[in-house]
Amino acid sequence: MSKAKPPSKRFSKPSVSKGKMTGSKPSGEKRGWITREAAKKQAETRMMDERVKTARGRKISSTLWLRRQLNDPYVKKAKLDGYRSRAAYKILELDEKFDLLFKGAVVVDLGAAPGGWSQIAVKKNAGKVIGIDILPVEPVAGADIIEMDFLDERAADVLMNMLGGKADLVMSDLAANTTGHRNTDHLRTVALVELAAHFAFQVLKPGGAFVTKVFQGGAEKTLLDSLKIKFETVRHAKPKSSRDGSPEMYLVAKGYKG
Ligand SMILES: C[S@@+](CC[C@H](N)C(=O)[O-])C[C@H]1O[C@@H](n2cnc3c(N)ncnc32)[C@H](O)[C@@H]1O
Repeated sequence: MSKAKPPSKRFSKPSVSKGKMTGSKPSGEKRGWITREAAKKQAETRMMDERVKTARGRKISSTLWLRRQLNDPYVKKAKLDGYRSRAAYKILELDEKFDLLFKGAVVVDLGAAPGGWSQIAVKKNAGKVIGIDILPVEPVAGADIIEMDFLDERAADVLMNMLGGKADLVMSDLAANTTGHRNTDHLRTVALVELAAHFAFQVLKPGGAFVTKVFQGGAEKTLLDSLKIKFETVRHAKPKSSRDGSPEMYLVAKGYKG
């Protein structure tokens, strides 16, 4: 058996701490020496680390989020159009497709911060817009938004008092902060969607509509079944402004049977 030859000068040792990575091996890989492809990958990772390091000690996930935000056409457009969030375009698209907002409509905005959906409801001449978020929201002219946890057992009553009657549209963009633990995140999201649906059952006028963000391929079967009983039509939709990589989509239920 022949001994492994020392590597030629064309190959270089991988180095995480140093910036340059030029050498490569035409085929195969021996311990301590890397292929051109592996070298390229390491260089890319290092480049990313470099950019992350310059981001004032932010976590990689927040830095990637920030980079995505800065390059997102909807974020730029929202700034130009004076909307608080890129999410504003999601309700605009859903409204265009499903005809949800109309002059004089009474609208509830669940998970309202920073206020994009409420802005759109006001812009579409809703008669009354009330909202809730666990985070504070800068006042939106024409809307009344309360800072409160929607999971608080008093939240539904507080909102109903603010409404002072029934609603034409309950729209929920509620999204729990993710923990990174898949099952926990899934359960928290499902709980918010179910609570939003039950709130809609309490406050909608006959003929009213319910829009909610859902994740991972749509609503849970039991929820979907009860929505199909209580509404004339139930559809899933993914607006163009919802990021391709995001597991979110929306469920639009119209024609509440009361
Ligand atoms: C995607 S954002 C909503 C964006 C909003 N539609 C807009 O256009 O500006 C989701 C919101 O849900 C809120 N949220 C999550 N859990 C909540 C809870 N338990 N109670 C109230 N708000 C909650 C978050 O604080 C966050 O502001």
